Amino acid sequence: MKYSKTDRYPVCKSSELVDDTMMKVSIDMVDILVGRRNGKLFACDNSCPHKGASLSKGCFNGDRVVCYMHGYEYNVFTGKLENMKSWKKEDTWVEQDMEWRKSGDLILYSVSEEDGTVYVALK
Ligand code: FES
Repeated sequence: MKYSKTDRYPVCKSSELVDDTMMKVSIDMVDILVGRRNGKLFACDNSCPHKGASLSKGCFNGDRVVCYMHGYEYNVFTGKLENMKSWKKEDTWVEQDMEWRKSGDLILYSVSEEDGTVYVALK
């Protein structure tokens, strides 16, 4: 089944997404991170904008998801990169390279909840 970017799709039951949790779901082979933080739903691309690690393996720091790979922190409601790991002298030359450190922001998706079901739209 081919999904339209304007349609919304059921991704889980509301009861599966208790406060301060997140999970990876898939719509048409797009991996999405959906979660609830301080009672508010969010949905974003599961792929880290830095180097593509799975954000579902990360954790929360306030309203930010912390990528397990290099520790970048993205606000799950605005999508903005808000914190980067502080780099130390002993880090490798690759990690000190300015190009390597660059990252965009998270891709956010529309998320809603109705009758005990959470919906995400790919737009
Ligand atoms: S891949 Fe996520 S911080 Fe580098």
